[in-house]
Amino acid sequence: VAVPRRYLDIVDLAVARGVDPGKYTQGLGAREMAVAEPGEDTVSLAATAATRALAGIDRSELGLLVVGTETGVDHSKPVASFVHGLLELPRAMRVYDTQHACYGGTAGLMTAIEWIASGAAGNRAALVICSDIARYGIHTAGEPTQGAGAIAMVIRRDPALLALDVGVTGASSTHVHDFWRPLGMREAQVDGHYSVECYLDAVATAYRGWTVQAIARGLIASPGCEQLARLCYHVPFCKMAKKAHLQVRRCDAEDDGIAFDEVAAAASFERQVAPSLPLCSRIGNVYTGSLYVGLAGLLDAQAGELADRRIGMFSYGSGCTSEFFSGVVSPRAAERIAEARLADVLAARERISIAEYERIMALT
Ligand code: HMG
Repeated sequence: VAVPRRYLDIVDLAVARGVDPGKYTQGLGAREMAVAEPGEDTVSLAATAATRALAGIDRSELGLLVVGTETGVDHSKPVASFVHGLLELPRAMRVYDTQHACYGGTAGLMTAIEWIASGAAGNRAALVICSDIARYGIHTAGEPTQGAGAIAMVIRRDPALLALDVGVTGASSTHVHDFWRPLGMREAQVDGHYSVECYLDAVATAYRGWTVQAIARGLIASPGCEQLARLCYHVPFCKMAKKAHLQVRRCDAEDDGIAFDEVAAAASFERQVAPSLPLCSRIGNVYTGSLYVGLAGLLDAQAGELADRRIGMFSYGSGCTSEFFSGVVSPRAAERIAEARLADVLAARERISIAEYERIMALT
C-alpha cells in the first residue's frame, strides 16, 4: 500500500465548508482524506506500492505487469510502462494498463488470475497495481469523498494472502452516465445519488451471479452471504459499503422468500463488513484501489482468525461494470500482510490545514 504523505482531517473540511461534521463522519463514514501533491502522481504512488510488494520476491519470476487506473499521466504511454522502467523489471514481460473507472484494477487482477490458471504463465507471476487520485474539486458534493493511493499485488500460484476461487464470479454491466471524466478535465463529473443507485443495482446482479456459480461449484450449499466469513466492497466512501451489504442481504431475503430484516442486516454489516473499513476511512476513495485497500485493512486486522475461511469481494466501476468474486484466506496471510506495515505507512503522514489543502488543489 502507498498513500500520499499528506492528509486532511475530515472534520476540518466539514467545518471549513459550514457542514455539520456528522454528515461526513456518520453520514459518509469518513475520518481522513489523503491529499496528493503534484509530485505524488499515479506513477509515483504505483511505483512505491510495487517496490513494497516486491520486497523479498525474485523479480525475474514476473511475466506480466498490469496497472489499473483511471487517472493516468498520458493518453498513450501507460502508467505500467513508467513503473516497469522505474523498478527495472525484466524485459521479457507484458506491460500495460487497464481502464474501466474503479473496476480497472479488477480487470487486471482477473487477467492475471486467468493467465496463471490457463497454464500460459508457466511458473511466472504477475504484478497487478491499482493506482489513482480521486478528485472532484473543492466545494463540490463529492469533495469529502476524494482520496488517493496505490495497492500492488503479486499474483502467483500458492498465494501467501488469498487464494481466489478461479472462475467463480458474477458480473454486471450497463451503459450509464453516473460518473465520468471528459478528456482534458482534471475533475470527475458525477451524478452522485444516481451513481449510488447504479452501484446498488450492480451489486444485486453481480452477487446473484456469483451465488449461482458458487452453488454450482459446491462452494456454498444455498444462497446466503452469511456463508462468507467477511465481505469487502468497493468503498468510494465507507457508508457505501453498508448500503451495498444491506442490498446483498435484501437479495438473500428475496431469494429465500422471507421478509428483509433491517436490524439483522445491520448486525451482519458490523460483523461481516465493518472490519474492512477503518483503513478506507483514513484514506478516502482510491478508485481502482478502494476494494483492495479494504481487503488489506481486513487482513491486517483479522487474517489470523480468517485463515482458511472464504471472503466475498465486490468491485464496481462507474459507467458501469462490476464483479462479485471470492477467495480463501491463506494460513500465511497474517505474516505476509504484516510486511506491508500499514500502521507505519499511515503514521508517517502529515496532517495539513484547509489552507494547505486548497493550495495543493490549486497546483495540481
Ligand atoms: P450529498 O448529496 O451532499 O450528501 O453527497 P447526502 O445529502 O446524500 O448525505 C449523505 C449522508 O449523510 C446521508 O445518509 C444523510 O442522511 C447523512 P444516507 O441517507 O445516504 O444514509 N447526513 C447526516 N448524517 C449524520 N449527521 C448529519 C447528516 N447530514 C446528512 N448532520 C454523495 C453524497 C455520495 C452523493 C457525494 O459525496 C458524491 O457525489 N460523491 C461522489 C460519488 C460517489 O462516491 N458515488 C458512489 C457510488 S459510484 C462509485 O462507487 C464509483 C466511483 O468510485 C468512481 C469510479 O468507479 O471510478 C465513485
